[in-house]
Amino acid sequence: MAEEIWEGYGEGVAPIRAEAEVVRNVREGPSSWRLVLRVPGWPGFLPGQFAMLSAGAQQAARRTDPLLPRPMAVYRAATGGDQSDLEILYKCVGRGTALLAEALPGQRVAIVGPLGKAFRPPRSGERVIIVAGGTGIASVYELAARLAGSHPVEVLFGARTASDLMAVEDFEALEISLRVATEDGSAGVRGVVTDLLESALDGPTRGVDVPGSGRRVYVCGPTAMMRRCAEIASRREVPCVAALENTMACGFGVCLGCAAPLQEGGYALVCLDGPAFDAASIDWERLP
Ligand SMILES: Cc1cc2nc3c(=O)[nH]c(=O)nc-3n(C[C@H](O)[C@H](O)[C@H](O)COP(=O)(O)OP(=O)(O)OC[C@H]3O[C@@H](n4cnc5c(N)ncnc54)[C@H](O)[C@@H]3O)c2cc1C
Ligand code: FES
Repeated sequence: MAEEIWEGYGEGVAPIRAEAEVVRNVREGPSSWRLVLRVPGWPGFLPGQFAMLSAGAQQAARRTDPLLPRPMAVYRAATGGDQSDLEILYKCVGRGTALLAEALPGQRVAIVGPLGKAFRPPRSGERVIIVAGGTGIASVYELAARLAGSHPVEVLFGARTASDLMAVEDFEALEISLRVATEDGSAGVRGVVTDLLESALDGPTRGVDVPGSGRRVYVCGPTAMMRRCAEIASRREVPCVAALENTMACGFGVCLGCAAPLQEGGYALVCLDGPAFDAASIDWERLP
């Protein structure tokens, strides 16, 4: 069966560097925020690609502390005329994201993107299972949105507690199958999302399998979760694509700070060769 391509896949959209205007920046949960940036000349993006954002809004003098930008998945985008409104979902975990949370409408944030290699699309008719946790939820929305309607899509979210989840309503609006596992049972079933993956691959298919077609797992989230998903999929010979979230300094292949160890030896750069990788190619034991 031929591999599908995203519309525009492989055309190698060149990234842009721009000063984006903050349109909205609102808190949606105890530590999660939704940022809308108006970006002139945004060239579009593919599911799984990311942008480097300045840590907080630009000031009269260019901000040098923190100096380095932060990588953020492009959650989704709405384009009108020659500008696009980009949505970014983020969690406040440190200095850079705390500064980002202070950015006010009208202020400017420096952006470089879209960057990185996207998720390869599934083959025609394949059943798609998307597993996400933590900030990984932001990386998979566009994937689910573009596949809804053309593929059977099941999304599995995992979190410690309900308030750690993000964007559940957006995924529900896609009218796909969505199941949630929380460790404390405050949303969905009590347990871990990797148990949901095992039951999705082994259990009754709830009407989402297409007879004779294959299955494909996509995952983004904490390393331990991705590693376990890779094992579960590999044991059943189901292809698994993982989007890594290694710490990044430059985002375009210069600093070598994002290197991920490979099974075959050597390293791949998450910012250039990823973030989306065949999970079987990653040496999970040595991944930081
Ligand atoms: C390709 C990619 C896409 C990403 N997309 C998103 C997104 O859509 N939304 C979002 O909220 N976050 C996303 N992240 C993670 C985000 O970049 C980090 O949370 C952010 O850089 C932290 O910056 P900080 O200055 O607030 O924290 P720092 O002060 O730099 O660090 C605070 C804490 O966060 C940890 N941390 C820092 N960077 C990462 C990282 N990359 N992954 C896990 N832990 C980290 C540090 O170890 C430390 O414990 C993405 C990362 C990558 C590589
Ligand atoms: S972040 Fe600098 S090489 Fe990848």
